[in-house]
Formats: sequence, structure tokens, C-alpha cells
Amino acid sequence: MSGRGLFITFEGVEGCGKSTQLERLKAHLESRGRDVVTTREPGGTPIAETLRGLLLDPANSAMAPVTELLLYEAARAQHVARLIGPALEAGQVVLCDRFADSTTAYQGAGRGLAEDTLAELHAIATQGVWPDLTLVIDLPVELGLKRARRSGEGDRIEQESIAFHERVRAGFLRQAKSDPGRVRVVDGTGSVDQVGAAIGAIVDDVLEGV
Ligand code: TMP
Repeated sequence: MSGRGLFITFEGVEGCGKSTQLERLKAHLESRGRDVVTTREPGGTPIAETLRGLLLDPANSAMAPVTELLLYEAARAQHVARLIGPALEAGQVVLCDRFADSTTAYQGAGRGLAEDTLAELHAIATQGVWPDLTLVIDLPVELGLKRARRSGEGDRIEQESIAFHERVRAGFLRQAKSDPGRVRVVDGTGSVDQVGAAIGAIVDDVLEGV
């Protein structure tokens, strides 16, 4: 466990519904008397949100994969140092929309950057602050992209090929297989209520064990 609080991250391909589910879980936990902070990556602090703008701007199509990796990790370092770490130290529950597993899936499985490089950078950026529980909301890539693109043209990463997003999805599923105690896969094809109920049950289980 990181600090005295509880750190829960939401992961998945574009349009998987994680932001909606994160808000639902916040309400669920608050109704049980928990002090909850919600945040997102890249972002969560002013400096990290500035880096988010750079990372997602479709105009930055010339960005090299390693530059992209370092900017995601730089945003994470700032986020952990200034928001996530202090919140956990204060005993809060932190719900974060994406975290290091997204880097492993997008920059690792998606872009093909080496896993050991990613692991080293995760260690530097997170300083050992690591999720207690990660919920991967899984659904077919085309379904997610259709949902995501309803809200506009799509950012720089959303605009990648279907094959790229397929590798990302497979990357998340591999992480769940290799670390089943922390990373749980939830079927994202059901209704908002069905997915929410599945997540609520997993989180209640974890809280009982704490
Ligand atoms: P969002 O659309 O879920 O807010 O996430 C922003 C985009 O950034 C999304 O396309 C996934 C991507 N991303 C990475 O490629 N690597 C990372 O480490 C993170 C946190 C996000």
C-alpha cells in the first residue's frame, strides 16, 4: 500500500468509459464515508496539464516516440510529487484516470519501446508510489474508438491506426495476466450500470481486505 491512503487507477483503450466509471466510483466511495480525490494522466497539476497539451495536440505529429515517453513520465513525476503522493500520505483515496500502465501499453506495446527502459523510468517518475488496484475496462478497439470519436476529431494518440490500438489493448490484457493481484479486467461492453456494479464489487472486496 502506498502511504496511508488507497491508490486506484483506471485503464483501458480509447472510449472504454473509464472517466464515467471513475466518477461513479467516487460517489460510491463517498457514500461509504471515504475521502476521495480524483485526478488524471497526463495531467492533474498545472505543470502536468501543460505537458498534456503538448502530448495530445494533433499539430505535434513530428514528436519522436522517446520524446513522447519522457514527456508522459515527466508529467507523472510532477503529478506524483505534488498531488498523488501527498494525498496518499494524508490518507485519502486517490482515483486516477490512467497511470504508468498506460505508458507500458501505449509507448511499450503500441510504439514498441523496450520494457526495461519503461520500468526504469516508471521507478524514477513514481518514486515507488504504485497503484493498490488497477481496473482495466476492456472492450473491442473499434467500439471504443467509435464512442471516443463521437466527441470530435480525436487527439494525437486517438488518431493512431486500429493496429496500434489493438496492440495497446493486448498490452493491457498482458499486464492483467502478469499481475492479477493488482490488475483486474472488467468487461466494458455492458451498460454503465453493469460495468459500475462490477467495479463496485471489486473495490468493496479490496477495501474489506485492507
Ligand atoms: P485520455 O484520452 O484517456 O485522457 O488519455 C490521454 C491519451 O494519452 C490517451 O490517448 C492515452 C495516452 N497516454 C499514453 O499514450 N501514455 C500514457 O502514459 C498516458 C497516461 C496516456
